[in-house]
Amino acid sequence: MKDMKGRYGRYALITGASSGIGEEFARQLAAEGLDLVLVARRKGRLDRIAKELRTRYHVDVRVAPVDLSLEDFMLELDPVINDLEIGLLVNNAGFATSGPFLETDAEKELEMLHVNARAPLVLTKALAPAMVGRGRGGIIFLASMAGMISLPYMANYAATKAYDLMLGEALWYELKGRGVDVLSLAPGAVKTEFGKVAEVGSGFGLMEPEKVVSKALRKLGRTPSFVPGSFFRAIAGSSRILTRKMLVRVAGSLWTRYIMRRKHVDCLEKRPEDECS
Ligand SMILES: NC(=O)c1ccc[n+]([C@@H]2O[C@H](COP(=O)([O-])OP(=O)(O)OC[C@H]3O[C@@H](n4cnc5c(N)ncnc54)[C@H](OP(=O)(O)O)[C@@H]3O)[C@@H](O)[C@H]2O)c1
Repeated sequence: MKDMKGRYGRYALITGASSGIGEEFARQLAAEGLDLVLVARRKGRLDRIAKELRTRYHVDVRVAPVDLSLEDFMLELDPVINDLEIGLLVNNAGFATSGPFLETDAEKELEMLHVNARAPLVLTKALAPAMVGRGRGGIIFLASMAGMISLPYMANYAATKAYDLMLGEALWYELKGRGVDVLSLAPGAVKTEFGKVAEVGSGFGLMEPEKVVSKALRKLGRTPSFVPGSFFRAIAGSSRILTRKMLVRVAGSLWTRYIMRRKHVDCLEKRPEDECS
């Protein structure tokens, strides 16, 4: 791998570092010798990961237990980072809701918009100018294949991920001549806590986070966006030959069947069969 510290600067800030893809970014970047700022709500988890990475890789790791859905989250984060050169920003924190749009909780949908879309915007606005000033830096946006294919029954989630995808791709172009590498990472399904949180099943993931992250770090600076895994790249590729109308119809019918089957399986785990038809 390229010299990450020389290319980007001393510290990487990773949001959503308490589990899944974010935790894996923390592990791989620490292994590259970068010092870290880990952001998420679950402080206990962040502390445990920080302790392990300090011991194993002899890097500095700061922990910022911050709720990114709050309007003024920068007030909490600023004291932790204001004396640091953040060279790499990984806008990873995110979650999904699932179910018919008219039935999901409006507050939760707004919270998701804030974490998945507003927080990356606020953080990028806060940290990118200094990167440009130094002539070096990197920013990764966790988009999703859901951001390429409108997804009925995860409609707002897909819309937030389309936002991440578009923002990252456009910034790749704007910042590429100014020393800052930008990548929108658009995974398909990854084995993390995501499926459980979104209530689409814990067996939802297909790819291991290790592979997703190592590929992303290699692609950073080389391309505006990247879908890890040849299976998911093939789906992303084939989606380009369909019209938008066909695409949303196919996605809707496959997803309806998947969600209905999941909900049936979940029901059977809790109730007798005659109550789960
Ligand atoms: N797994 C997949 O199949 C998949 C596919 C495509 C894209 N993605 C994207 O990948 C990213 C990471 O997800 P993951 O798969 O690694 O899921 P995950 O294991 O559930 O991790 C989500 C992370 O986001 C953090 N987070 C959630 N709400 C937060 C809030 N209000 N404030 C601060 N941090 C918050 C969580 O930390 P706390 O709970 O401790 O706050 C956790 O560290 C997400 O943006 C997701 O959309 C995932």
